[in-house]
Amino acid sequence: MRQIRVVVARYGGPEVITVIEEDVPTPKAGEVRVKVLAAGVSLPDVLAREGVHPETPRVPYTPGWDLVGTVDQLGEGVTGFELGQTVAAMPIHGCYAQYVCVSQRKLVRVPAGLDAAEAVAVVLNYITAYQMLHRSAKVRPGQRMLIHGASGGVGSAMLQLAKLAGVEMYGTCSVQGAAVVRELGGIPIDYKNADFVKEIYRLTGAGVDAVFDGIGGDNLWRSRDALRDGGRVVTYGFQAKMRGGRMVSGGGGRHPIRESAELGWFIIRNWFKSGRKSMVPYSIQWLMRFKPAWFRHDLLMLLDLLKQGKIKPLIAQRLTLQQARRAHEMLGEGGVLGKIVLLPNG
Ligand SMILES: NC(=O)c1ccc[n+]([C@@H]2O[C@H](COP(=O)([O-])OP(=O)(O)OC[C@H]3O[C@@H](n4cnc5c(N)ncnc54)[C@H](OP(=O)(O)O)[C@@H]3O)[C@@H](O)[C@H]2O)c1
Repeated sequence: MRQIRVVVARYGGPEVITVIEEDVPTPKAGEVRVKVLAAGVSLPDVLAREGVHPETPRVPYTPGWDLVGTVDQLGEGVTGFELGQTVAAMPIHGCYAQYVCVSQRKLVRVPAGLDAAEAVAVVLNYITAYQMLHRSAKVRPGQRMLIHGASGGVGSAMLQLAKLAGVEMYGTCSVQGAAVVRELGGIPIDYKNADFVKEIYRLTGAGVDAVFDGIGGDNLWRSRDALRDGGRVVTYGFQAKMRGGRMVSGGGGRHPIRESAELGWFIIRNWFKSGRKSMVPYSIQWLMRFKPAWFRHDLLMLLDLLKQGKIKPLIAQRLTLQQARRAHEMLGEGGVLGKIVLLPNG
């Protein structure tokens, strides 16, 4: 049987994305072959393509952090899974393909009847949002929080989960995203035309309890300024280093620790700043490695919330595997509302 798979052959812009045709992979012992129904597209995929994400694989590689699909073939010794059963996983790369072999330890059962695109949005984006809210910031009802990029993939997930937690949410976004942020229960702040720190003080009087900052760079100091005393910045990305979907510092090589090292330097400098304001990093992949039980628990709980209709992922676009390059271009151009999802098998 043949399949198509997306390959990044060298680091660089969206033009390095190609599609190949090949035989479907055979699962090794302990692996399950999954027929991919939906693969998420996210900024971490773009950063890896540029060669700068901490999880950047060596080229050539297949991008794609997360998938939802059906069990297609069982490798030797696999138990507890049946052919045709719907599963989800976050192998970090490899999901932009029609068939993917995944270790059975990484698979989570998906409740029947869910839309695959909505379910895949839950994996990377909602786990990130949930863990930052409840495990990093330990939110309590009535608190006030600010999320940057609130109309994007992680941002829109965060707004929905914050509403369930009884948190008052403020969200930076561009003009196009304001309506979505408001609809999801947040108070939009136009980051291109307003000073978000001034806006936070105008709206809250005293600052917020936490800021979720995937922008990085000097934006972290401004996020810190928006905190009340005792507040916390959760830092989880470095979008400030990008323009039009490319790294300003230049991609073209593999630099998986450069940006994280700089983020660490901000955290160290924060210790010497006045005021009781903390800065903590968040990384879904490290939490998954160190606390796999949390990852599994949080994913199952979030899929259950999806099943109950308590969360509703915002799907910006459903594209084919052949449109993977276009998906990356769209994320680079900006203005994407919610999550872009690839549907490898139609
Ligand atoms: N640490 C982790 O475990 C983890 C996990 C997942 C994602 N992430 C990070 O999370 C961030 C978001 O990822 P995503 O996939 O959700 O991306 P996305 O869907 O493209 O969303 C990013 C959003 O940020 C907005 N934005 C860009 N520059 C901004 C600025 N200066 N101020 C405020 N908002 C700004 C964009 O708005 P416009 O396009 O309208 O300008 C866009 O809505 C990225 O930094 C990613 O690397 C980290």
